[in-house]
Amino acid sequence: MGTGDEAKSMAIRDIIISMQMSNHKNVLKLLGCCLEISVPALVHEYAMEGVLNDHGGLGGNENYSSLPWKTRLRIAKQLANALTYLHTAFPRPIIHRDLKPSCIFLGHDYVPKLTNFSLSISIPPMQSHVEDDLKGTFGYLDPSYMKSGYITEKSDVYSFGVHLLVFLTGQKVVDKYDAIEYQSIIAYVKQHVSEIGQIQTIVDPKINEDVGGNEKVQQQLQDFLQLALSCTQDEIERRPYMTDVARELVRIDKI
Ligand SMILES: *[C@@H]1O[C@H](CO)[C@@H](O)[C@H](O)[C@H]1NC(C)=O
Ligand SMILES: *[C@@H]1O[C@H](CO)[C@@H](O)[C@H](O)[C@H]1NC(C)=O
Repeated sequence: MGTGDEAKSMAIRDIIISMQMSNHKNVLKLLGCCLEISVPALVHEYAMEGVLNDHGGLGGNENYSSLPWKTRLRIAKQLANALTYLHTAFPRPIIHRDLKPSCIFLGHDYVPKLTNFSLSISIPPMQSHVEDDLKGTFGYLDPSYMKSGYITEKSDVYSFGVHLLVFLTGQKVVDKYDAIEYQSIIAYVKQHVSEIGQIQTIVDPKINEDVGGNEKVQQQLQDFLQLALSCTQDEIERRPYMTDVARELVRIDKI
């Protein structure tokens, strides 16, 4: 296939799944599309707050505005709902496969809207996985899928867990943390929290400014971190399903 055909087939997949998902309030509504041009154009509803940046905030990466902790938690909770729906509401589970900040828009009142299903793929009946070439975004890509080429619901769970770490730390997924060397956010976080009580050193300073020593929030941060780490385990069997993740976020939000 030429790149034009490839772009067209990705656009078609995006259209089909966006339409299936369109009545979910946490999915960016597709209003129209044009396939008669070399690069297919999709027209979506307007999301007034814009798109998430690499730090899990808004605006350009150089001088971005960060979101309050309560908002980050609510965004995570609502995105988990949209993904649970994608995985469970149809005869075959659909895997988004390319969750990244640029697929997450924020509408009025910072309500998250998931978009870009152009790499999404469904799992055939009676199968636990589907096999395909490696596609996705470095830093968010499930290492197990990278090794085996097998895509499962747990690949999205992994990427989602990485997003939770971005929300918690305000850091990019791959960066020069501690000015030492480039590493992944997971390695960075694990290194800092391996000693109990070190969570403060990785939490986004903006969150600490915002909520200070509030005990309930400290518990939320701790549980949010544990959830993120369980989603990003290497062994896919040990990761929770998206529905468990969504339930746990509801619990954490109520603390
Ligand atoms: C960042 O934004 C703040 C407030 O909007 C502004 O005062 C500051 O000059 C900006 N910094 C840069 C480097 O653009
Ligand atoms: C959607 O994701 C695909 C795959 O990463 C990317 O090539 C494409 O540019 C994205 N589309 C938009 C509108 O961002």
